[in-house]
Amino acid sequence: MSESPVVTRRDAVKMAGAATAVAAVSRMAAPGILKVRAANSQVNYAFIGAGSRGTYLLKHLSKIDAGRCVALCDIYEPNLKKAAESVGYKTATYKDYRELLARRDVDAIYVATPLYAHFPVTRDVLLAGKHVFCEKSLVFKPEEIHALRALHQQHPSQVIQTGLQRRYSSFYRVAKQMVDKGMLGHVTHVRAQWHRNGAGRRPVKDPSLERQINWRFYREYSGGLTAELASHQIDVADWMFGMAPEFVCGIGGIDTFKDGRDTYDNVQLLYKYPKGQKLIYSSISTNAHLDFSETIMGTGGTIVITVGDDNNPANGMWFREPNAPKAQAAGKSKENWTAGATVSSSTVQKGFPLLLPQDVQDPNDSFLRREMKFARRWLYSKGVMVPEEPRNPVDIELESFLHCCRNGQRPVADIEVGLMDSTGVILSNLAMDEGRRVYYSEIEKMGRGTQPKPKAKRA
Ligand SMILES: NC(=O)c1ccc[n+]([C@@H]2O[C@H](COP(=O)([O-])OP(=O)(O)OC[C@H]3O[C@@H](n4cnc5c(N)ncnc54)[C@H](O)[C@@H]3O)[C@@H](O)[C@H]2O)c1
Repeated sequence: MSESPVVTRRDAVKMAGAATAVAAVSRMAAPGILKVRAANSQVNYAFIGAGSRGTYLLKHLSKIDAGRCVALCDIYEPNLKKAAESVGYKTATYKDYRELLARRDVDAIYVATPLYAHFPVTRDVLLAGKHVFCEKSLVFKPEEIHALRALHQQHPSQVIQTGLQRRYSSFYRVAKQMVDKGMLGHVTHVRAQWHRNGAGRRPVKDPSLERQINWRFYREYSGGLTAELASHQIDVADWMFGMAPEFVCGIGGIDTFKDGRDTYDNVQLLYKYPKGQKLIYSSISTNAHLDFSETIMGTGGTIVITVGDDNNPANGMWFREPNAPKAQAAGKSKENWTAGATVSSSTVQKGFPLLLPQDVQDPNDSFLRREMKFARRWLYSKGVMVPEEPRNPVDIELESFLHCCRNGQRPVADIEVGLMDSTGVILSNLAMDEGRRVYYSEIEKMGRGTQPKPKAKRA
């Protein structure tokens, strides 16, 4: 970490290094996975679960030519019809996913069903010899963690990817590089929240469909806010700290929306990591002022980052710690990193945007390109412009999955990333339900031999 309290040229060089290290995610997968039939050809994929998320992913996939949608499956006719119309060309439709899995021309499956169906569907996809992308949280119950890991070991050449798109975001990857390079000093805390204002209830015309449509409200199908929202951010903290927590404790309540739901409408969670680091997490349904983001705090600085959505762009800001212990001791000159533009101490307070690879100088840049990059960075420093991710991380994760299928690579958000995340969700809900610290090591004993023992006969 530089010892000056303002952003220095040295810091900028380091941040540029972090951004440069963020190579195209699709090139970052490890080898060792079976290739689909013909290299350089499109991957034939299908969807199981074509509701809100499935249709959204289909829309993004329509811009990606590494694959072609050949089939869709949904048990709910209106959703199946809507999804089929959104594809833009004729696609086979199914109500029973086992019929779809019997097709030999389907290489890969995207699963976007409610959480309770993730494991059975993913298991059957693997048993059918196909690659699988499953939305987060990857699995629902402790026994499914062990079962999916065992199944993967039996089918190591099939890709399993989890829908954790932050892992594919340039901003998050730069943040991770900055953490690893020590640019935030010693990272001790992550604070994250996802706050909304409202019940989140979907309208239901036919009351018999309430549980099917509003499945997120019922524990039989869902892990509630922890699975739906916190899962993304627990994963960010685990990733930034580079380890799993030691234990979690928390409080959840159904305090506002007493509408028949049995999942919490607000959760407050605290995670302790092995070296004393903490994740402080909050998700509420009664105030959206703070919106959703993660704040990564170290002795030398802070990153506030959000993946954004289709209406709000992703953003990552870096704040230097003005009174970092080292900075006070060193008293070095306030060198300016943009070669001419002054980065004042107010910039330190307001923060500085994370630089993405497209803004980093390359020795091969033409004069014009170099000047453009300089101008952009100067505008960032003045708060006039903010860097934009060149591609939506959802597009990258979807395309990356197809590349992994085609080229025999291991995904960035692989099975272990997904299972660690699911472990966090399961144990967090348990901690709130039982009002105690739940240790992550407990997962090893949970869900083993879950067959209920026969009841003892009465004397
Ligand atoms: N990564 C993200 O940011 C993100 C965002 C939203 C949702 N998700 C995840 O996507 C998944 C789906 O969420 P959603 O909002 O689209 O739910 P949804 O209710 O809108 O859609 C789920 C669809 O699955 C169908 N379905 C249920 N069981 C099925 C089965 N056995 N076979 C075929 N189809 C079946 C339902 O009929 C429905 O159409 C959830 O796991 C959710 O957590 C992820």
